Amino acid sequence: MTVVDVDLGSRSYPIFIGSDLLGRADWWERHAPNATVAVVTNDTVAPLYAERVIVALQALGRRVVPIVLPDGEEHKTWQTLNLVYDALLREHCDRQTLIVALGGGVVGDIAGFAAATYQRGIPFIQVPTTLLAQVDSSVGGKTGINHPSGKNMIGAFHQPQAVLIDVETLASLPDREYAAGLAEVIKHGAACSAEYFVWLESELPALLARERTVLTEAIAGSCRIKAQVVSADEREAGRRFVLNFGHTFGHAIETGMGYGAWLHGEAVAAGMVLAAELSVALGTLEQGDAKRIRRMIESCRLPVAPPDFDLDTWQELMERDKKASQGAPRFVLLRGLGEGYLSPVPRERLAALFAAVGGAQRRDQSPRVSSGTAG
Ligand SMILES: NC(=O)c1ccc[n+]([C@@H]2O[C@H](COP(=O)([O-])OP(=O)(O)OC[C@H]3O[C@@H](n4cnc5c(N)ncnc54)[C@H](O)[C@@H]3O)[C@@H](O)[C@H]2O)c1
Ligand SMILES: [Zn+2]
Repeated sequence: MTVVDVDLGSRSYPIFIGSDLLGRADWWERHAPNATVAVVTNDTVAPLYAERVIVALQALGRRVVPIVLPDGEEHKTWQTLNLVYDALLREHCDRQTLIVALGGGVVGDIAGFAAATYQRGIPFIQVPTTLLAQVDSSVGGKTGINHPSGKNMIGAFHQPQAVLIDVETLASLPDREYAAGLAEVIKHGAACSAEYFVWLESELPALLARERTVLTEAIAGSCRIKAQVVSADEREAGRRFVLNFGHTFGHAIETGMGYGAWLHGEAVAAGMVLAAELSVALGTLEQGDAKRIRRMIESCRLPVAPPDFDLDTWQELMERDKKASQGAPRFVLLRGLGEGYLSPVPRERLAALFAAVGGAQRRDQSPRVSSGTAG
């Protein structure tokens, strides 16, 4: 078992990564001493993994309250959050109750927000079961739900007291979801650590084959990078921006295509290719390094070409992004591999970029991915 510490003073917590961890009684005994444990999951993950966790907790004498939510981003709403509160109240859960979030980023965000707000805040443990949740959403303490007028518009920072990552859960993850998680892994290398990027290049075949030891190392590497960035900037006032590499374009693609048409990681993948090309055009990244990023994305069977929006559409979509400062979109660009920096980009530059890359597909199509060697 590999342990990565997230250093946040009194809110510090460990991330445990390894195989066959879900049912480890010794782990639960140590990290879930609470008499009552509410296990929040969804109707896809529950039949796969809930029993292992619940049996382990019950064997330790804990009272378990299972809360099974409907699966899907469209359920990341106030109404679903209310189902969690209803169950906690019905079962007389108090401030000593522990919430365990078992599932992908949607479950983690809802359960985490419930933990942040139920009786003014109760402890919670993240047990992420998608690659995206393991390397990204379960680390950093952002929790929340969507509002009809925008994604993640209602939320809170609430750090978990531990994160348990069982890489075995990735065996059942659909290929497309797995690839989408890899996009965030690539992002950590491209924007934060050249060394990690080079390591990913060398281990890519094993990573695509979901080989356990390499998966454990890759997830630990990504968590270490995210933990470092988050430790330096818990509330996203400064350096945390580097984690948005590929995301200004990515969010525009997600919005422009209509949520759900492209997975977040797919949109970010095409966004990273654009941001790398832009860095080349601005003279801060070697063409060869942009090619390496593109090649890795392609090998993961992620899209490298954006949809063919016209310039005004791009501009409008990007100005809507919540990270835009006073309407002018800012981009995370690369000063060499592994070093992201933040910069506004003049409209002419963007026009030249979109003219150079061209469009890949029409609005009504899903992302076209190359035929890589992904397993
Ligand atoms: N809090 C943060 O910092 C942060 C960061 C990034 C993303 N997010 C949020 O995370 C969400 C996306 O997370 P996601 O990509 O994990 O999506 P998701 O939670 O919707 O999971 C994707 C699909 O995989 C299923 N699934 C989960 N684990 C599985 C497994 N082991 N085997 C088979 N199927 C499994 C889910 O039920 C779902 O159908 C978005 O709502 C996004 O806003 C939050
Ligand atoms: Zn992302």
